[in-house]
Amino acid sequence: MRILSVVGARPQFVKLAPVAAACTAAGVDHVIVHTGQHYDELLSDVFFSTLHIPAPDVQLGIGSGSHAAQTGAMLTALEPVLLEHSPDWVLVYGDTNSTLAAALAGVKAHLPVAHLEAGLRSFNRRMPEEHNRVLTDHAADLLLAPTQVAAEHLAREGLAERTHVVGDVMTDVLHQVAASVAGSAPELLRRFDVRAGEFSVATIHRAENTDDRDRLDAILDGLGAVDHPVLLLAHPRLRATGADLARGAVRVLDPLGYPDLVTLISQARGVITDSGGLQKEAFELRVPCTTVRSETEWVETVELGWNQLAEPGQIAAAATRPRPGATSDTPYGDGHAAERTVRALASVS
Ligand code: UD1
Repeated sequence: MRILSVVGARPQFVKLAPVAAACTAAGVDHVIVHTGQHYDELLSDVFFSTLHIPAPDVQLGIGSGSHAAQTGAMLTALEPVLLEHSPDWVLVYGDTNSTLAAALAGVKAHLPVAHLEAGLRSFNRRMPEEHNRVLTDHAADLLLAPTQVAAEHLAREGLAERTHVVGDVMTDVLHQVAASVAGSAPELLRRFDVRAGEFSVATIHRAENTDDRDRLDAILDGLGAVDHPVLLLAHPRLRATGADLARGAVRVLDPLGYPDLVTLISQARGVITDSGGLQKEAFELRVPCTTVRSETEWVETVELGWNQLAEPGQIAAAATRPRPGATSDTPYGDGHAAERTVRALASVS
């Protein structure tokens, strides 16, 4: 069996890591295509090196652009690559423009397409990611859902027959990495001059938060008003706004590679973010999360008490709330989602 994975943006590299390892273990021929949506060392290369992902077989080098220009360029560039490799499955990940372009290119080439992390919904039609998810799910032949809630969304849209619940592959990689970095915390805390349990880690990069200047200013003021240090890992989209990031409690840092990020979160008092992945990573590491959005796809984190949605003016209070009660629930699976993914692809092909 030949699987062709298409990735392009930071969270997709994290998801690719356990899938690539599971393909190797199962003796599957795995072709990796990188669209080039993310091209910076800190958003791309560092994930391949630290998560031991094989170098991409094909690099399309598309880069940044408007939604239409970026997605269209990917679509054009992907077509000959898919036809040349003629895989049994085109595997697409998550909800970025790379996901949608690959799904469309695949089905138009009459190749079977599988969507990993299918069925997530924010029900917010202002989010580019929401359209990418919905369109990809309806185009794809096989929907690999991370949770029961995601499978229920797909069933309501008439897609139950194409759905397999495999668990969350980000949880696979999180637990592997967390076990391997346990000893590196003291050095990282020294490097960032913070003490365990006395700082928060923040990321803000979603278009709905960065592209409206009044909202962004209110968010940055909210981070600045937190009563303990806030390490803000600044995504290029956030830096590109030109806003004054270093307000009050905020210390501005570059994005971190995955093992350092996991180590830092594991030592933090809290996470403040608009990222999907970080909400889950905080939950899995049992660190309270404050999500600067009005909805979340990862509803289990909120229902179990570990995640709170906050408007900008509520950030400072939410970031100092007491820790919730312990939970042993595992809504994101048992750490073997990637193996289940490869098995599902083998059984359906
Ligand atoms: C994309 C995804 C988002 C995901 C995020 C993870 C879409 C619609 N959005 O958002 O779902 O959560 O990745 O980071 O696909 N830039 C650089 N260097 C890079 C990449 C981007 O400087 O390596 C800058 C460019 O100015 C670019 C901007 O960041 O215009 C936004 O990049 P883009 O890939 O369009 O979207 P992200 O905000 O990263």
